[in-house]
Amino acid sequence: QVGPHPTVITDPADLRAALRGHAVAFVPTMGALHEGHATLIRAARAAVPGGRVVVSVFVNPMQFGPNEDLSRYPRDLDGDRRVAGEAGADLLFHPDVPTMYPDGFSTSVSVSGVSEPLDGAARPGHFTGVATVVLKLLNLVRPDVALFGEKDWQQLAVVRRMVRDLNLPVDVRGVPTVREDSGLALSSRNAYLSADQRAQAAVLSRALRAVQAAYAGGERRGAALRQAGLDVLTTAADLSLDYLSVVGGDMHEREIMDNDPMNRVLVAARMFGVRLIDNMPLAAH
Ligand code: PAJ
Repeated sequence: QVGPHPTVITDPADLRAALRGHAVAFVPTMGALHEGHATLIRAARAAVPGGRVVVSVFVNPMQFGPNEDLSRYPRDLDGDRRVAGEAGADLLFHPDVPTMYPDGFSTSVSVSGVSEPLDGAARPGHFTGVATVVLKLLNLVRPDVALFGEKDWQQLAVVRRMVRDLNLPVDVRGVPTVREDSGLALSSRNAYLSADQRAQAAVLSRALRAVQAAYAGGERRGAALRQAGLDVLTTAADLSLDYLSVVGGDMHEREIMDNDPMNRVLVAARMFGVRLIDNMPLAAH
């Protein structure tokens, strides 16, 4: 059952037939799978020992803005099959765009509140595209458990909010971010960077760690915590900052941070023409 080559399914009816009667754990992705995705898939495997692990690979046009990287987003289905299979996936669901968005498609799911600041402000419509496709995928796969990375912390918050608000019968689990030794968070978009550029991009994680260090040192003022991160980012050569923000579980900044474990520092920046995001809890473990 755990083999190097999961079956690729493109037709939703075939997917339903393959899953009927099985416990299902689901990892939605846009492909170009790396060790971060593999970690989610291993967690999915562990969540349903005798069940089926489904990985979707679908580059969702609805969540890309008009000037974003949809057309050049990395695609590698053979590599995805190998990585998913080695991590324990049984099925790779790979629908085409007309299957997901047939002519006349007119519905969208928009989650207010947590999806508004940060990436919601920087990428208008992005989280509506994410929520819509995730709801569609959950309806197609009907998993017992769905796994998402903390790498996309705000996305995880949007998905959790939608699942609660719409009473979706799925157990959503977050998985900690997988990083390179340099600290750089793994991302499909790192494929756009050279080895030297990736080394420089590790400045983002160093900035987040500086905020953690300030918090560990007793700093609780939101502005001062933020400044500790900004001081690190000013050392970077080619960096244009979208935001560096210290927020609570509602994704909003506070003047004074309490000790809530949901407190988080998030950063988004463009480096070498690539938009990169990362985040960490304020309280390092
Ligand atoms: P994608 O960027 O391919 O990511 C798929 C899943 O892998 C997400 O839950 C993401 O948080 C997780 N992930 C990515 N890099 C990670 C890392 N370094 N460590 C841990 N987890 C990581 O996120 C999406 O696709 C899409 O928005 C999607 C949810 C599939 C909807 O289209």
